[in-house]
Amino acid sequence: MIILGIETSCDETAVALVEDGTRVLSNVIASSSDFHIKTGGIIPEAAARKQIEFIIPVLKKAVGRVSVAKIDAIAVTAGGPGLIGSMLVGVETAKTLGIAWNKPVVPVVHLLAHLYANFIESQNSNLKTQSNPQFPAMVLTVAGGHTDLILMKGHGNFEIIGQTRDDAAGETFDKTARILGLPYPGGPSIATEAARFQIANTKLQMFPRPMLKEGGFNFSFSGLKTAVARKIEQLGNKIDKSQIAAEIQEAIVDVLVQKTVKAAKHYNVKNILIAGGVAANTRLRNVLSQKSPIPVFIPPVALCTDNAAFIASYANFNYHPADINKISAIPDSQDAILYYENLKNKSKKV
Ligand code: KG4
Ligand code: ZN
Repeated sequence: MIILGIETSCDETAVALVEDGTRVLSNVIASSSDFHIKTGGIIPEAAARKQIEFIIPVLKKAVGRVSVAKIDAIAVTAGGPGLIGSMLVGVETAKTLGIAWNKPVVPVVHLLAHLYANFIESQNSNLKTQSNPQFPAMVLTVAGGHTDLILMKGHGNFEIIGQTRDDAAGETFDKTARILGLPYPGGPSIATEAARFQIANTKLQMFPRPMLKEGGFNFSFSGLKTAVARKIEQLGNKIDKSQIAAEIQEAIVDVLVQKTVKAAKHYNVKNILIAGGVAANTRLRNVLSQKSPIPVFIPPVALCTDNAAFIASYANFNYHPADINKISAIPDSQDAILYYENLKNKSKKV
């Protein structure tokens, strides 16, 4: 089955063609993130306008010479996390194509789709095994709006066992980068700055590791942001930006790795998977694969950040086309999961 995926939840406009959920035939991404650097973050209205500007050229490029007759279905990000204006561009495009081409449309929740970066073939740079992820698996989903531990017992069988109580890991990178005067998006900026700090044998322990002992599998990062702000104020012009960046990265990575390994052991899983934009972080990738006694799947960096290939892959393994009139853009991921589960169950009963 060939699925055309469309992803416009934030500042990336992406369209991909994926066969059988694993083989990428095309994967085109246009990003307006350079544009948002100037404003120090995303202005939702501006991001939506960029989506409108990019969607047709990206779609044309991704479909290329593939005949429309060969496309079996259209999958679209119709659930968050995301910005309503941006998401609507993809949703309306998918619905229009569904009607014009007479194809089924599969609504996809962005949060869950991130996991499927781990199922995409050939580019799968799994470090410890060569096979597909085995279930049950523990998935650490770390993005701009989410930090979740998801127990995946099979396709479509997801249980969120831990979440952040306040800021997400990506959000913490973004906010602390801003405090440090580093450009948006903060994750890559902090990682680059941290790489400049190379004092051998320095223990990176300046900042707290929130909720390591308590809170079960939940996270909390807002205290870290406050600790960074206080430290910078204390240091004044004595501040070494690269050291602070390395300390921030280490504190975030340490908590993510320890909690993920703890959850994986608790649920006795066969694999650990990572997903989301923060999974592109080299330090996280290295520390998790070194410290985990359980085989870890690590998707290539290009598939960790937002793209439409994982949207199409998700739809292949969770194939539930919906009535086009019932598909809408739902920015909150929990609301979206509930809404589309409900829709799926109702259509089963008919
Ligand atoms: O998954 P994603 O592209 O969009 C969301 O769905 O949120 O994730 C974006 C987040 C941003 O917070 C960005 O700072 C972070 O991922 N990010 C990184 C890296 N690359 C992107 N964080 C740490 N290290 C990176 N290399
Ligand atoms: Zn994302």
